[in-house]
Amino acid sequence: MKPFILRLAGLSMSVLLLFSCSSEKTAVTTSSDYNYKVDSLLSIMTLEEKVGQLNQYSLGSEFTGPSSKKGQDSIRYQQLISGQVGSVLNLLGAENTRKMQKLVVEETRLGIPLLFAYDVIHGYKTMFPVPLAESSSWNLDLMQKTAAAAAAETAASGVHWTFAPMIDVTVDARWGRVMEGAGEDPFLQSEIAKARIKGFQGSDLSSNRTIAATAKHFAGYGYAESGKDYNSVNINNYILHNHILPPFKAAVEAEAASFMNSFNDINGVPATANEYLLQEILRNKWDYNGVVVSDWNSIGELVNHGVSADLKNAAKKAINAGSEIDMEGTAYVQNLVDLVNIGELKESIVDKAVRHVLQLKYELGLFDDPYKYSNIQREKEVVGHESHYQLAEEMAKESIVLLKNENELLPIKNTNNIAVIGPLANDQDTPLGNWRAQAVSNSATSLLDGLKNALPNSNIEYAEGVKLSIGPNNFFEEQLINQDDRSGFKEAIQLAKQSDLVILALGETAYMSGEARSRADIGLPGLQQELLKEIHAVNPNIVLVLMNGRPLSLSWEDENIPAIVEAWHLGQKAGDAIAATLVGDNNPSAKLTMSFPRHVGQIPIYYNHKITGRPSTAPGMVFYSHYTDVVNSPLYPFGYGLSYSEFEYGEIELSANAMNESEEITASIDIKNISNVDGKEIVQLYIQDLVAEETPMVKSLKGFKKVDIKAGETVQVEFKITKDMLSYYKSNGELTLEKGAFHVFIGPHSQVQNYEEIVLK
Ligand code: NOJ
Repeated sequence: MKPFILRLAGLSMSVLLLFSCSSEKTAVTTSSDYNYKVDSLLSIMTLEEKVGQLNQYSLGSEFTGPSSKKGQDSIRYQQLISGQVGSVLNLLGAENTRKMQKLVVEETRLGIPLLFAYDVIHGYKTMFPVPLAESSSWNLDLMQKTAAAAAAETAASGVHWTFAPMIDVTVDARWGRVMEGAGEDPFLQSEIAKARIKGFQGSDLSSNRTIAATAKHFAGYGYAESGKDYNSVNINNYILHNHILPPFKAAVEAEAASFMNSFNDINGVPATANEYLLQEILRNKWDYNGVVVSDWNSIGELVNHGVSADLKNAAKKAINAGSEIDMEGTAYVQNLVDLVNIGELKESIVDKAVRHVLQLKYELGLFDDPYKYSNIQREKEVVGHESHYQLAEEMAKESIVLLKNENELLPIKNTNNIAVIGPLANDQDTPLGNWRAQAVSNSATSLLDGLKNALPNSNIEYAEGVKLSIGPNNFFEEQLINQDDRSGFKEAIQLAKQSDLVILALGETAYMSGEARSRADIGLPGLQQELLKEIHAVNPNIVLVLMNGRPLSLSWEDENIPAIVEAWHLGQKAGDAIAATLVGDNNPSAKLTMSFPRHVGQIPIYYNHKITGRPSTAPGMVFYSHYTDVVNSPLYPFGYGLSYSEFEYGEIELSANAMNESEEITASIDIKNISNVDGKEIVQLYIQDLVAEETPMVKSLKGFKKVDIKAGETVQVEFKITKDMLSYYKSNGELTLEKGAFHVFIGPHSQVQNYEEIVLK
């Protein structure tokens, strides 16, 4: 008998049976099995105990939001041992989690185990590329695998639940959190959401290699006005239904165990208190049965938003709307019991929320064995496993986007003297990115080391050139950018002068993107462009390797630098992966999932925008939608990326030109690799609705395939066009299918011009 069951001495036999189910997994446990257990447990809980299940604290050594717990330690301890805490974030490690679990299981009246949660965004200890980078691979299987590896490490450290994936569609690269998601397209974001959720959760949540996932942030956070984190959101209903919500619907379909609120308001109602989002859409329309957790103090922030006068009102609004767990807000633990007692809140609403929390605990197997995830031996074996490092390298290679390669400067050929310059060239920390969980600082491979290994016979010399940042380099403090120290310029310029090739590594350090890291100017920060220009003046034979967590504006760079490689924050094996790509051992195959603007003033910029009444294709003069000082197109569009191979697209062949709702049309295309290098191509299908009741988008991604094409080979790629691909959400949220003509585009990126027309009869 496990100790927590002993706590039940004195309770009825039927309750005992609830806890003592076999720890061996029987075939499939259905939700109705849990319903019975959950209901029985609920029936013996006091109101205080119920509210406790809805209270979540950050109790580890780290915190991931503004700290509010000063002087609270003893109060929180008392609450822990009296069943007033249901889940904990940021407490890590098999030993720590076991100890705290033991305390709660043995000291509280009912011994209900805790849930341990943590932000495992792109790895636990082994760091994979940041999610925006991974999304550029368009490789769903590989993304599922990295999520599964991250889950295995997390679970082995006693943690049951990650606050990932972030599936906020976003069109503003100034917003620092674009690094956490999969970019601007709702369809791709949805596919990636499903892959990551499947990766984290596997097919059995109770396995000690899987963890519960969280679809976040519900909803609209990616549209923070002017890209400033935590800002208000102003969107119309068309954007809400067609761009923002589809990935969340996909997350429900993928059975994401939890949803997290977003900080922002929508139409004047903060998401945390938004009944339209949490009830009408999530529960009623999508029939979601998991648990909803607030964001860090987002219930308390209802007061800051100005919709609640005090914490009590905030608690009432949030629980009634459907926010079920209060993360670090103390609003529920302080107020819900009272609200029920004075008749301002129905206990049944509390019950509903508690049911979802208990259900998750059952699904994770915590009632079978509350310590099953906290095993020191397994932790040692699984965390940082060599196979995860290999996977990190594979993923990093697939995430690198070749943006420019004039005169085939890349891959590097027989070059003797190579100058490796730049503040990020010999940096083992930046590639780990923001939200790096338990990664060890400075543990990534650097570009310099990667190149030295890959080119043992070349003479490689290094100069830092310029410092990118000064002062603190961590999650909590502002990163200060070097604006005036040019003392390294001279040495770097001299080195460039005497070299055959210059490899310059520039971009953003790990903490220049991520939460609270919005930037108004998204060019290369600090003195980096100045250094680049000076080096270019003495040796224009430059490969620019970018490391960053967001799209950058790179107009000068694109005009002047012959080769540009987007290497993001690629994780643990960044240096090896970039070096393999530069020398041609890896043929780049990734494509952008967010548009790169020519100028920050073009933001928001995204390929699937509305046509407008005066599009740039309309007859001329100056009276059309444009700027007078920059063209409309992005510098690098969504879906764009080069390869060392060259692919030639044939004509689109259709199995029919018209279909009705119950029919499908097959669209196929031949793609030939006309180079002598084997490669991979991401073939993209876009559809444009020509006439609709509500103004349509210029085109929308509806399918993609990543195919291997050997040198000289031709591959035929087929897509089935179904009625779902021709539908859209009207502003009232209804999915609609309208008869008429559509253009079907198939090509290598979103600016493809190659199309055929079809008709829906
Ligand atoms: C705030 C962030 O918005 C959210 O994404 C994260 O999961 C929580 N903090 C917990 O760390």
